[in-house]
Amino acid sequence: MAFRPFMLIFIALLLLTTTTTNGVFSFGEKELLSLKKLQFSLKSSKPSFCLSQKSRSENGATILEMRHRDYFSGLVTDWNQNHQIWLRADKTRVQSIQARIRNLVSGKTEAHSQTQIPITSGVNLHTLNYIVTVRLGGKNMTVIVDTGSDLTWVQCQPCKQCYNQPEPLFDPKISTSYHSIPCKSSTCQSLQYATGNLGICGADAAVCNYAVSYGDGSYTRGELGSERLILGTIPVENFVFGCGRNNRGLFGAASGLMGLGRSDLSLISQTSNTFGGVFSYCLPTTDVDSSGSLILGGDSSVYKNSTPFSYTRILPNPQLVTFYFLNLTGISIGGVATQSPSFGKAGILIDSGTVITRLPPSIYEAVKAEFLKQFSGYPSAPSFSILDTCFNLSTYDEVDIPTIKMQFEGDAELTVDVTGIVYFAKIDATQVCLALASLTYEDEIGIIGNYQQRNTRVIYDTKVSKLGFAKEVCTFS
Ligand SMILES: *[C@@H]1O[C@H](CO)[C@@H](O)[C@H](O)[C@H]1NC(C)=O
Ligand SMILES: *[C@@H]1O[C@H](CO)[C@@H](O)[C@H](O)[C@H]1NC(C)=O
Ligand SMILES: *[C@@H]1O[C@H](CO)[C@@H](O)[C@H](O)[C@H]1NC(C)=O
Repeated sequence: MAFRPFMLIFIALLLLTTTTTNGVFSFGEKELLSLKKLQFSLKSSKPSFCLSQKSRSENGATILEMRHRDYFSGLVTDWNQNHQIWLRADKTRVQSIQARIRNLVSGKTEAHSQTQIPITSGVNLHTLNYIVTVRLGGKNMTVIVDTGSDLTWVQCQPCKQCYNQPEPLFDPKISTSYHSIPCKSSTCQSLQYATGNLGICGADAAVCNYAVSYGDGSYTRGELGSERLILGTIPVENFVFGCGRNNRGLFGAASGLMGLGRSDLSLISQTSNTFGGVFSYCLPTTDVDSSGSLILGGDSSVYKNSTPFSYTRILPNPQLVTFYFLNLTGISIGGVATQSPSFGKAGILIDSGTVITRLPPSIYEAVKAEFLKQFSGYPSAPSFSILDTCFNLSTYDEVDIPTIKMQFEGDAELTVDVTGIVYFAKIDATQVCLALASLTYEDEIGIIGNYQQRNTRVIYDTKVSKLGFAKEVCTFS
């Protein structure tokens, strides 16, 4: 290709706009990643579980500080083992999402019985997730944020089986604003859509029992109640949530979970009079010093995006009301478009609870081939769990990483942050992997995981069914 003067000017402009944050320099179609700086920030992560995230209100929006649940043992020697466990849990979540989608599409609903709630062998597994703090019945509750489920719940007194949490358990008996949801109510019936399980009547008709099983084998069971919820400074009266009396799984030390899916019971639907059905998040990286935000409400002046938003349609899918599906039309690596017959064919799900993006095999193979072509000359390393494209970068201080851009219907584009392209399987950089994985079958549902959404403002506008992306260096303040 001949060099033309305008290209030189273009390159000069690119160099002028080069930014340096967290040791990352951007050079157009490649980004320089400083391995040494990244390793340092990973190593200096301390085992401090940070409860009571902050919040504030600004221009009609409620801004909740969002932080990565910190599972680092603080011991670098545990790093490799922890990561194996995280990715195994991620694999289970994806398998269960696929199973749930198959069941929903085929019209099956899971029966509410003890035996059919899948239980994984180890309850000490950890997944990578994000937490915020809200007030429920006057008490702080630090909960996991999940866009892949609808029901919000907390661990509840008296508890049959609860995992350990540092915050006191929610106690409906001492709250005057708590009310039980009767079993013969439309709210109780809406559980079927929200959770895949029918609400169930026990001996007491004043009580609606629920059960939710998650992608990773975790579950919660209890009764539906309503309570005063405060998000930042904004009160929401009679918020319907699950009072969980039998909870087990990968919730870490969080007091429960906040469901941001699409059905009637989700927090977004229940607060749509206040926040207009709009929310957004900016997911920070895993180091403990970084925090991001979950913003409820849509006043764009509160965002700190550094590139303009590009929007794509949220695909309608009456059978799968919980999930957010997008139309992935292409992926470019270092500016080169990859080819696959599967682009634009089926919806890809965007999820805050899955870690690693899963692509249909034909798309993954095309992406991997182009990445290997451009990221050539580096010694390869063995596969790591679900990640099969790995390198030994231990002798490099910094490397040029080809950019990854995902394109969606309507010319929307998600530029994957450079920290979301590589995965440090070994902290000494002897095994650094491309942070994408393949599905087993072409007709499985692709998932955009949270690792690839870091340092991006992702806006969900459920009223007009569109979703937007823009670059943002996540921070709460
Ligand atoms: C509740 O959380 C807020 C921040 O969200 C914090 O300032 C306050 O101290 C917490 N209260 C308790 C009792 O932990
Ligand atoms: C995705 O977008 C492309 C291009 O606009 C279109 O041709 C295709 O039909 C869309 N796919 C779906 C599943 O809506
Ligand atoms: C990685 O590369 C370095 C330098 O070539 C080598 O000494 C080391 O043994 C390699 N490590 C692994 C795990 O392959």
